[in-house]
Amino acid sequence: MTDQVITEIQDNIIIIRLNRADKKNALTGAMYTGISDALDQLEQDANLRVGVITGTQDCFTAGNDLVDFLNSSGIGGESPVGRFLRTIPHLSKPLVAAVNGPAVGVGTTMLMHCDLVYAAPGAKFQMPFASLGLCPEAGSSLLFPQLVGYRKAAELLMLCKLFTPDEAVALGIVNEILPAEEYQAYALAKAAELAKLPPRSIRVTKQLLRQGNEAQLKAIMKLEENYFTEMLAGAEAKEAFSAFLEKRKPDFSQFS
Ligand code: COA
Repeated sequence: MTDQVITEIQDNIIIIRLNRADKKNALTGAMYTGISDALDQLEQDANLRVGVITGTQDCFTAGNDLVDFLNSSGIGGESPVGRFLRTIPHLSKPLVAAVNGPAVGVGTTMLMHCDLVYAAPGAKFQMPFASLGLCPEAGSSLLFPQLVGYRKAAELLMLCKLFTPDEAVALGIVNEILPAEEYQAYALAKAAELAKLPPRSIRVTKQLLRQGNEAQLKAIMKLEENYFTEMLAGAEAKEAFSAFLEKRKPDFSQFS
């Protein structure tokens, strides 16, 4: 149990709040476990129809905790992040995200597994895996080029370009932008709207929307997991993580 992930049930909706503001809600193993437990609860409890995932008022998440990553054995197997990455794509019930501030790394890639995404104007999206000596995860190497086209995906996943809520709407990653004081309540209202619809119909619709990608997604996520785990222990990632922690620019000039 961690108080860095707070879950709350309102009617048929489970709300999952990332709550580690001093570290920009960077995700530790315990937090991944907290999110996965809540997603399992959504899946298993017949009274629950929709999940909402959000952060603190002004921050979604700065992605995986980089200190945790330094000591981690990878993103596969029984690791907490591995469990999260296996759980979120296979939810049968809808998941709505409400995003403000940084949505970095898995903070952006997890949105591809959400059904509706609402953002505040302060949201900042980025997938800096390549600049950290890593590679894309959570199926993003398949889902991003499918959604935004290869050229744009290369910009986001190779140049690691930061993008704004307006760009995220144009790219089809975010549904709508709401004022900062409204975005969480709006996402909750949309979740309540979903919760009133026929539940089986919503589940079958979600299944059909995603079915065409199922086998390909499974295969690419396995490949991503293998590369990511290997690269996490590599020299390029070590240099990138040390540079972040030492608050300096990384130097990749010695690598081939
Ligand atoms: N892992 C561990 N700690 C993190 C973190 C992360 N992913 N992101 C932020 N933090 C910590 C910072 O080290 C800092 O801690 P300190 O106060 O003890 O020094 C604190 O959170 C606040 O972060 P700071 O960088 O001062 O906030 P900011 O508003 O200037 O910038 C970000 C916010 C998210 C842009 C910036 O923190 C960042 O780039 N984080 C790394 C994101 C990342 O690479 N994630 C991994 C993706 S795989």
